[in-house]
Amino acid sequence: MKDKHILITGATSGIGKETARALGNLGARISFPGRNKESALKVQEELRRETGNQAIQFFPCDLASFESITDFTTGFRKLYNSLDILINNAGLWNSKRILTQDGIESHLAVNYLAPFLMTEQLLPLMKMPEAARIINLTSGIHFRGKLELNDLEFSSRKWRSIDAYTQSKLCNVLYTKSLARKLEDTKISVNCIAPGWVNTGLFRDAGAFVKISASLMAMSPAKAARGLVYLATARETGAVSGEYFAGMKIRKSSQASYDEQLAAELRQNCEKYFKNYIYNNQI
Ligand SMILES: NC(=O)c1ccc[n+]([C@@H]2O[C@H](COP(=O)([O-])OP(=O)(O)OC[C@H]3O[C@@H](n4cnc5c(N)ncnc54)[C@H](OP(=O)(O)O)[C@@H]3O)[C@@H](O)[C@H]2O)c1
Repeated sequence: MKDKHILITGATSGIGKETARALGNLGARISFPGRNKESALKVQEELRRETGNQAIQFFPCDLASFESITDFTTGFRKLYNSLDILINNAGLWNSKRILTQDGIESHLAVNYLAPFLMTEQLLPLMKMPEAARIINLTSGIHFRGKLELNDLEFSSRKWRSIDAYTQSKLCNVLYTKSLARKLEDTKISVNCIAPGWVNTGLFRDAGAFVKISASLMAMSPAKAARGLVYLATARETGAVSGEYFAGMKIRKSSQASYDEQLAAELRQNCEKYFKNYIYNNQI
């Protein structure tokens, strides 16, 4: 992986941090956007020291702000003219209906709209002679997701964290499949992965029962990272696109996730969020 440049979001903790560590150990250049400079610099220092890889680099970026994402990708595109692997890993699960600084329901904004915008803005760097990969994090719980195209932010229906989270994770699968169709004549593969139940900070906001169960029964972030590393590095995973991986196995995703019309309408419904942030009408 020494000649590969990988961008991974959410590498300051949990699955993302362990994936960055593993890929850093393989010698890849790792770039990771993070919202908290102090903790991100500590992670950068820790990963550089433990892997001996100095090409692990933090960039300030808050995924809850389209402006921040755009500032980051604009700077990144000035620094680099290619990107081999994009791993959209960052995500959240909030117990309250919180709005981002753009005024958008946080699960929709950070779990779906942010990776969408990041991907669309970085795609030009990935259209190169060599093969490139995009890996999106979803969840097995996306099977419970119900997409209300006219109320993606739960403004007029009752907001429940499980509904907001599962809807955003269904969006990740729909986007993966639709982007794969769009890129089928290119050398860019796009797949998504449900890592399984993992004991991470994702549950920091949850009740004691969930936290204790996770600490006793969920897998470690390092184990979950193996699936992401497999998608990023294996020859066979680079040759498939539009697939849903549960760990290291290709599985069928939910019925709704195969609905091309739904994916197209989702994209259309979200255009309003991005009209000031997409280069050259890429959307
Ligand atoms: N844990 C599970 O059981 C499980 C199961 C299925 C899917 N997943 C998915 O796996 C992915 C990784 O989650 P995890 O379990 O590793 O959780 P985690 O430990 O909470 O990590 C989440 C990462 O996302 C980052 N992040 C959140 N909001 C951000 C923002 N506004 N700007 C920049 N970065 C932000 C966090 O940064 P900070 O350090 O600044 O908070 C952190 O690095 C998520 O997409 C999640 O949905 C997890």
